[in-house]
Amino acid sequence: MRHTKIVAIANQKGGVGKTTTVVNLAAALSSRRRSVLVVDLDPQAHATLGLGLEKTPGVSLYPVLLGEKAVADVIQPTKWANLNVIPSEIDLAGAEIELSARPGWQGSIRDALGPVKESGAFDYILLDCPPSLGIVMTAALAAVDSVLIPIQAEFLAMDGLALIARSIDTVRKSLNPALELGGIVFTMVNSVAKLTADVMDEVRGHFGDKVYETTIPRNVRVSEAPSMGVPVVFLDPRSKGSAGYKAFAWEFMAKNPTRQDLSRPPAQAADDSNSNSAEPPSPVDAAKNAENA
Ligand SMILES: Nc1ncnc2c1ncn2[C@@H]1O[C@H](COP(=O)(O)OP(=O)(O)OP(=O)(O)O)[C@@H](O)[C@H]1O
Ligand SMILES: [Mg+2]
Repeated sequence: MRHTKIVAIANQKGGVGKTTTVVNLAAALSSRRRSVLVVDLDPQAHATLGLGLEKTPGVSLYPVLLGEKAVADVIQPTKWANLNVIPSEIDLAGAEIELSARPGWQGSIRDALGPVKESGAFDYILLDCPPSLGIVMTAALAAVDSVLIPIQAEFLAMDGLALIARSIDTVRKSLNPALELGGIVFTMVNSVAKLTADVMDEVRGHFGDKVYETTIPRNVRVSEAPSMGVPVVFLDPRSKGSAGYKAFAWEFMAKNPTRQDLSRPPAQAADDSNSNSAEPPSPVDAAKNAENA
């Protein structure tokens, strides 16, 4: 039986790489034989499409939140082993309004995912949150063990972080005392920009070891992959973006061990890949990745 970790990937700012991080972290974890469930909570359904699934009316967390369907009925397999999705659909856009009218909406995602967590079927459940501090994100934060925040190293990054950190504090005090800030990961890093280095220093100075050593480089292959419905980690394993996400997945697994990882000797744990490379890439190498593949 696994100890399932549930992690929300959240940032109220749009376009910072939340969905790209969910899709490629999930892909990289699945290729390390971790069993992963992605929950697409954004009506834009970009994670659903990025994992090669279509939007299908009635197949999302929405009917589960309303008590009309069992969660097991909306979990969809992808083309890849160990990688499953609860897709999104346009109806999820109505969830904010409809949920807010129901007493106890704060616990709705936690209740909906409870049976999946208890089943022990997955090592990781990753929630792709919409870009807002609204009802869906609050209910997501109430349901998870920790929050992973993707950010871009740009002007006012710290202001955005302060906002989401405050939301995490509020949810911890009121709804989910065990909620942790699991980590912050820099995405779309252009390693030559001075502003990038300054912002990264400032964020590391403030949040210390909460900030992942691995950074994800800006890489054109990453932005091309969604239109093909294939995570870049599978589409172009040799690209810089893919290398970044694979290195990030190693660091993520080390910071978020499942019971499976804890009970396994390190030598065996390092050799359980179904991909070709058994060694973790070093975070420092990944951080040095240049702009293009
Ligand atoms: N490392 C990268 N290199 C190049 N392009 C990237 C990279 N990461 C993300 N992108 C592109 O940036 C855009 C925004 O990324 P993404 O959709 O993951 O952000 P998001 O935070 O989920 O957005 P939203 O807030 O709308 O949900 C997308 O077009 C994506 O393909
Ligand atoms: Mg998104």
